[in-house]
Amino acid sequence: MLPSILPLLAAAATASAASLWVPTTPQSPRPYALKKGHGIKLPGGNTFPVTGNSSGNAFCILNTNAGGSSTGLGPGLFPHVHKKTYENFYTVKGRVQLWGQNLDTYKANTSIQQTRILGPGDIGAIPYNTIHTFSLLEPDTQLTGVLVPGGFEEFFFHMALLSSSPGAGQNGTLPGAGGFNISELSKWDVYPQLDFVARADAVNGKAGPGNWYDGPNVLPDDMAAPIWVAKNHGPKWLNSEGGRYQIIAPFVTGRQTNGTFSQGTITLSPYVGAEAGRKGAVVKSAVATAFMVEEGQLEVEVDGFEAASLIDGDVVFVPANTPFSYVATAEFTKFMYVTGGGKGLDYELMAQAKSWESAFYPESRSSGVGIGRMVRI
Ligand SMILES: *[C@@H]1O[C@H](CO)[C@@H](O)[C@H](O)[C@H]1NC(C)=O
Ligand SMILES: *[C@@H]1O[C@H](CO)[C@@H](O)[C@H](O)[C@H]1NC(C)=O
Ligand SMILES: *[C@@H]1O[C@H](CO)[C@@H](O)[C@H](O)[C@H]1NC(C)=O
Ligand SMILES: *[C@@H]1O[C@H](CO)[C@@H](O)[C@H](O)[C@H]1NC(C)=O
Ligand SMILES: *[C@@H]1O[C@H](CO)[C@@H](O)[C@H](O)[C@H]1NC(C)=O
Repeated sequence: MLPSILPLLAAAATASAASLWVPTTPQSPRPYALKKGHGIKLPGGNTFPVTGNSSGNAFCILNTNAGGSSTGLGPGLFPHVHKKTYENFYTVKGRVQLWGQNLDTYKANTSIQQTRILGPGDIGAIPYNTIHTFSLLEPDTQLTGVLVPGGFEEFFFHMALLSSSPGAGQNGTLPGAGGFNISELSKWDVYPQLDFVARADAVNGKAGPGNWYDGPNVLPDDMAAPIWVAKNHGPKWLNSEGGRYQIIAPFVTGRQTNGTFSQGTITLSPYVGAEAGRKGAVVKSAVATAFMVEEGQLEVEVDGFEAASLIDGDVVFVPANTPFSYVATAEFTKFMYVTGGGKGLDYELMAQAKSWESAFYPESRSSGVGIGRMVRI
């Protein structure tokens, strides 16, 4: 009799815990999970799974799902600078072209404009005071923007409001920016740079200095230029703590953001064999943490909530100082992370990791599917 009762007891115990899943982005910080594509929305394919309101102003995540064209300009925005907002452009699917150049060295003519064509997994990081503009290039593109600090998104909401008002684009308002009065854009930390001409000479996905797919993408120690990391061409770290592997591939750490945030990916091995079902180590971070799953399946458990099982596109947000744990329930589970400071989860994991070349974790902990090895017969 006992074995048949136990599952019922277990079910009753979990039913008392709250669900992590919410139907849309909350208006104040709390732990939550959102299904792919869920969250506050604006016209034009924009979804905000994390906002200033939901993250305590730590950061905003903006997913743009839209069509573009490689022959004409896709959706984008006139060249501009933010003085207080750091903005990262991460391509999840399709292709996005991003241009960038530091404003001061552009004016002094002492730097060279850079552009990259970002495919899935590629990122361009635009520090404060960097001129940038972008274009979506494929019919089914997803651009994931990370804007720090959170709250910048109010600009998009205001712009959407103005775009829908009669007379948008007339009488000194900026076409392409809805009905915005150019001289009032600075209120929103947007400074148009209309004399900036985006170069059109990219070869093999790049123009301007630095490596792309043709060499290692080293993270600089300053914010003097845009930062580019092609998928798996940036630094990687292998953490083997607690009987599992985590490959941390940072795009930016506190060193590139003056300690304001970090972003990158983690590739996680599951517990296999007798260890299947084991819990991950409990993490308690002094800064907010968000994950967006890319591959596999990730189970996230936050103190006081039922565990949530996330698949690609799903987002989980955990406020600062909130204990949580995560495990991969599929092989080669990969997710994009954002943390609200220079010393978040990635910092802790990299402090206990070794530098790692491969995009795969070692085979010894995989379930034998041959990851990381090509078998020739
Ligand atoms: C954030 O909260 C403020 C205050 O309640 C509200 O006015 C604003 O619309 C919210 N922003 C978003 C993007 O939901
Ligand atoms: C900027 O510098 C480049 C090379 O250093 C030079 O060829 C170009 O004429 C300069 N442009 C201006 C506007 O001074
Ligand atoms: C733009 O200016 C014209 C001429 O001054 C005026 O008739 C029109 O109402 C203005 N439109 C808006 C939206 O202010
Ligand atoms: C734009 O804003 C400036 C400064 O606030 C104001 O003087 C001007 O009248 C505005 N222009 C329009 C077309 O609303
Ligand atoms: C970095 O942050 C500190 C405050 O935390 C600030 O004083 C300093 O100006 C910032 N530096 C840059 C380059 O933004």
